[in-house]
Amino acid sequence: MISIKSEQEIELMRKSGEITYGMFMALKDYIKPGMTTAQIDEYAYDYITSRGAIPAFLGYEGYPATLCISINDMVVHGIPDNTKIKKGDVVSVDAGSIYKGYYSDSAYTYIVGNVDKKTKDLVDNTRKALYEGIKVVKAGIKLNEVCKAIEKVARDNGYGVFDCLTGHGVGIHLHEDPYIPNLANHESERIILKEGMTLAIEPMFSLGTKDVYMLDDGWGIKTLDHKTAAHFEHTILVTKEGYEILTGEWKMAKEKDGYIELEGKVLDVIPGGDFKVELSNGHIVIARVSGKMRLNMIRIYPGDTVLMEVPICDLTHGRIIYRK
Ligand code: MF3
Ligand code: CO
Repeated sequence: MISIKSEQEIELMRKSGEITYGMFMALKDYIKPGMTTAQIDEYAYDYITSRGAIPAFLGYEGYPATLCISINDMVVHGIPDNTKIKKGDVVSVDAGSIYKGYYSDSAYTYIVGNVDKKTKDLVDNTRKALYEGIKVVKAGIKLNEVCKAIEKVARDNGYGVFDCLTGHGVGIHLHEDPYIPNLANHESERIILKEGMTLAIEPMFSLGTKDVYMLDDGWGIKTLDHKTAAHFEHTILVTKEGYEILTGEWKMAKEKDGYIELEGKVLDVIPGGDFKVELSNGHIVIARVSGKMRLNMIRIYPGDTVLMEVPICDLTHGRIIYRK
């Protein structure tokens, strides 16, 4: 049975999601080469507990930590230990928190230092798949539309998709109905999304095989061919018009007149004079420089930190309004 959350329950899930999201944003600056995964776990534990929440994974079926930290060929459920983060590592972090009994669940893949283009693309495309899956969400659609949208990104890029690892309902428990596979399937074809459902959507892709094996610790899951994997996840609410991302997305941004302002980092120049900008919440958007900045001949280069204005109705395009 897929539960429908009340407005009061949703409010608690928003709060839970905000704490989880805040932790992910804080980790972005915190994770550094040389640090152990146990050290990152301790930081996350302090972050969540000091905000009145409980780490959702700690003690879940005996899981011993706050975070799952899965590096390179580890897909999910890596137990933090004395492994040191190295430059060039692809570090997938999965975390959840419980606020007044309500769960949120999210994952983010951090690239430490530089990696080759195909690895960077894997991470970008796995994140893209999460948003492609989220974008189709709306009361009345078949769940399979979400699965199909995620699968398409994997197929277009030739990535491995693990059929045994799926997203799920979330809220009163960490794992609720329905399963949300990252591949089109018959079961999801029969499920119609309704207003008030809360879902954890979580694409996981690899540069190679879809086959995995479990480590002797009974948790860690690695790709059989040891190729790199990436993982992104958000907890979302199904609404009449679409969705709301509960794991904090946009929450930390100022909103005015249908626009939000967010900091971002310029990644690339696009032919034609636009820029590819990674926002502080992980979104990659296409940006154009504001007329005022052009007039003042303020030039933008890859690596610049900028302030962006993004219309809420189209989260894929924005304007650079300030260079830091
Ligand atoms: N996001 C993961 C999942 O949905 C978290 C579970 S890991 C555990 O499966 F450690 F809590 F078990
Ligand atoms: Co999950």
